[in-house]
Formats: sequence, C-alpha cells, structure tokens
Amino acid sequence: MSRSPVVADGAISVPEKRPAVDRTREPLFELRSISHSYGRNKAIFDVNLVVWPGEVVALVGDNGAGKSTLLKIFAGYLEPTSGSLRFMGEEVRFRTPARARALGIEAVYQDLAIVDQLSLWRNFFLGKEIVHKVGPLRILRRRRMRREAETAVAKLGLTRIRSVEQPVLALSGGERQSVAITRAIYFGAKLLLLDEPTASLSVRETRNVLASIERARDHDLGVLYIDHNMSHVLPVADRVVLLEHGRIVRTIDRGEVGVEELQELIARRAQKIDC
Ligand SMILES: Nc1ncnc2c1ncn2[C@@H]1O[C@H](COP(=O)(O)OP(=O)(O)OP(=O)(O)O)[C@@H](O)[C@H]1O
Ligand SMILES: [Mg+2]
Repeated sequence: MSRSPVVADGAISVPEKRPAVDRTREPLFELRSISHSYGRNKAIFDVNLVVWPGEVVALVGDNGAGKSTLLKIFAGYLEPTSGSLRFMGEEVRFRTPARARALGIEAVYQDLAIVDQLSLWRNFFLGKEIVHKVGPLRILRRRRMRREAETAVAKLGLTRIRSVEQPVLALSGGERQSVAITRAIYFGAKLLLLDEPTASLSVRETRNVLASIERARDHDLGVLYIDHNMSHVLPVADRVVLLEHGRIVRTIDRGEVGVEELQELIARRAQKIDC
C-alpha cells in the first residue's frame, strides 16, 4: 500500500491508514526542560519534546513562536541556555552542527549546500565520494556513483530529471529538497529536520517533498517538520505540536483533528493571545 500524500484537484489529501508509531521503542531524540534566550529575549520556555524513529512530528505555531529556534537546537546550531538533549538514549551536547551531523542529524534548508554547476550525481556524493585507493591515489568511482545516484533518483519519482549528468542549476527548489532528503536517507541519517520546506513551492513540488518525507519515515527516520500550511502538515504528521510564545501548548495525535479544525484552533488561540 502506498502511503504517499495524494494530490487531487490541487488539494493534498490525507492517506487513510498508516501504522501507528511504536512508542515503546527507545526515543530517537529528546529535549528535556529546554529553555533558550537570545541575550535578554527569552524565546523558548521549558520545552519537553520527544521524537521516535519512524515518526513525523510537525511543529506549528504563529510567527515568532520559537519553531526555528527549537529546530536549530536539534541541529546543533544553537546551544540551549538550559536543559538537556538526549539522542538514542544518551545525553549529548553538540556545540556545532557538524557534531550533530556526525550522529546522523540532517537539516535540509532551501538554500542547500549545493554546487549549481556540478551534475546531480556529483552533488549527491559531494563530500562523501566513493573512491578507489591505489597507493597514495584516490580515484573517483564515477560509474558506481552515477549508477547509485540514478537508482536513488528513480525511486524518488522525479520525472523531470532526465539524467543524473544534468547540472543541478536546472532543478527547481522542490526537486533540490527532494534530492537532499533522498541523499540524507541514502547516507543513513537518523533524524531529518525541515524548516518550512514547502514554502513557495508549486502543488506538484510540494507533493514531491511530502512524498520524500513519507519515504524518510518509511526508512525509520524521525522527522521534525515546520510548516505554516495545515493542509501540508496533516497528511504527513504523526503528531502535531503547537508552539506559542516559546511554549508547547497542545499536542495533537494523527487523526484527532481535520485541517479546518486545526486551522481554527490555531486562529482561536492566536485571538485569545492578542486580546
Ligand atoms: N538570532 C536571533 N537574535 C535574537 N532574537 C531572535 C533570533 N532569532 C529569533 N529570535 C527571536 O526568538 C523568537 C522566536 O523566533 P523563531 O525564529 O524561532 O520563530 P518561528 O516560530 O520560527 O517564526 P516564523 O514562523 O516567523 O519563522 C522571536 O521572538 C524572535 O524574534
Ligand atoms: Mg521560523
């Protein structure tokens, strides 16, 4: 059974059935009593959040609620002012994004580290090239990399990509993100972080990105995903976490509410806060 989100008449519909997340397993990532301040501006207040393997957690909330700040803490870009992080059962302190990446935490941004002039397969293996060592020489295994990239891209279903020889400057923003997500899965990432990946994408590109998120989940990755559009969030999220002024105010499980209800709930809360 395919669990990919389906686009019908320009709308993205919610797949009906999907296995529940196994929450008896060891959590993949945990934030415990995390607070964060930018100088005197406190942005995050005592947040506890768990992501399990094979789970998509959507972070939603108004502008300035603290979503990106939380994601940057997950990604190792920010060290929290207080609280602790646990990754696969162990307490961790990242200090740098490279440390988080080394553990298998991949953040995918719209302005990805991609070299426009290089071919898709070269970008796919950038920094992780497959080489053949002959004495002191490192010879690129071009044919093998090309083949592997081709297989990965074919699985993506990116029909506009005719050849992995094509330079990535020919790809759209959505296609680049789908490629980056596939790359993360290919290289064995465990946690995928996405900050508004569907912003300014067409319906078709959005569908591709959401399908890539589903694929990551099917490969047992945990995904933390920020999006303002509830009709994008609900088809893929196992859990929706609502942030308000740096605090988690509501957690909603898959199937608990529909798109309109969720939109209304957020709007109602925002009104209450503004009064
Ligand atoms: N680098 C920074 N320096 C100072 N304050 C910051 C910085 N980044 C974010 N903030 C503040 O922290 C709070 C949370 O910001 P954050 O970017 O996490 O919100 P967000 O939920 O991602 O918003 P949006 O939906 O607009 O992207 C805001 O009050 C913001 O002004
Ligand atoms: Mg943000």
